[in-house]
Amino acid sequence: MASFSWNRLPDQYSDAVRSQAFIGEELIGTIGFKPEDRVLDAGCGVGNLTLEIARMVPEGSITGMDISEGRIAQCEDLFRNEKITNARFYVGSIEEMTEEEEYTIVFSNSVFQWITDLDLALSSFHRALRTGGLAAIQFPRLFGDHPMIFYPEKAIRELKLEEFFEEWSFPACVPSEEELKKAMERAGFSEILIREDETAFSFPTAQKLFDHFKNVGYARYVQRLPEEYKEAFLQKILQDIEEDYTKNKTQRCKRWFAYGRKKEGAETQ
Ligand SMILES: C[S@@+](CC[C@H](N)C(=O)[O-])C[C@H]1O[C@@H](n2cnc3c(N)ncnc32)[C@H](O)[C@@H]1O
Repeated sequence: MASFSWNRLPDQYSDAVRSQAFIGEELIGTIGFKPEDRVLDAGCGVGNLTLEIARMVPEGSITGMDISEGRIAQCEDLFRNEKITNARFYVGSIEEMTEEEEYTIVFSNSVFQWITDLDLALSSFHRALRTGGLAAIQFPRLFGDHPMIFYPEKAIRELKLEEFFEEWSFPACVPSEEELKKAMERAGFSEILIREDETAFSFPTAQKLFDHFKNVGYARYVQRLPEEYKEAFLQKILQDIEEDYTKNKTQRCKRWFAYGRKKEGAETQ
């Protein structure tokens, strides 16, 4: 069974400059993985963190799941090259998971910002856990001042592109601490711990900052635009990032770390 020691949770960090990968490491560092743990990495991306976890559970197993076929293919290549055999991967979505009582730890790093139904996602995690199992989730709070939101929204206003974004809400999942806690309770979790952290992203150039968000967040906006507006939209975002970059080299992002345990006799809602 997974062990989780609250005292391994990191202290409040000051202004340390960290990358997104480092945040995944931070989440990993708060979980006392045991060699025999059976872990799900939900929304595993290209598998870098999955690989790290796999090495911590040599007598257990790791399952990597992601909605993107391409990323799962990359994971399979990575694990084949690394000759790791206690792993399996599948293409799927968190909201549609069917596993029951399978894992001792369900881990999810930087995915819940894209979740459209928080209750459904947390219930999937709860159902997939064995009794005593732990869900450990980290995701950014994409409020309006987050660079992934702020610059596209500004570009929409200033380029007068509102008509393409009517009846569209982005990002998908921005709960308050209370909402997140309540949702975890509704899913059946106990020993819930929610912690906010702030990350200072320091990119060496404005272009690097733009490139980082271009593929994850800006792409979702660009998809909605007719072809003839796409380039101008991205150019506007880059230009605004460049202007601000000289004033404020560091982009601060708030994040949630959320943990909950499945207790004996707990029913999944
Ligand atoms: C920012 S990446 C994080 C990847 C990895 N967890 C990491 O920390 O390196 C977000 C990942 O979530 C996946 N994703 C988004 N929505 C998902 C969903 N509903 N179910 C499963 N995966 C999802 C995306 O395909 C992407 O690979």
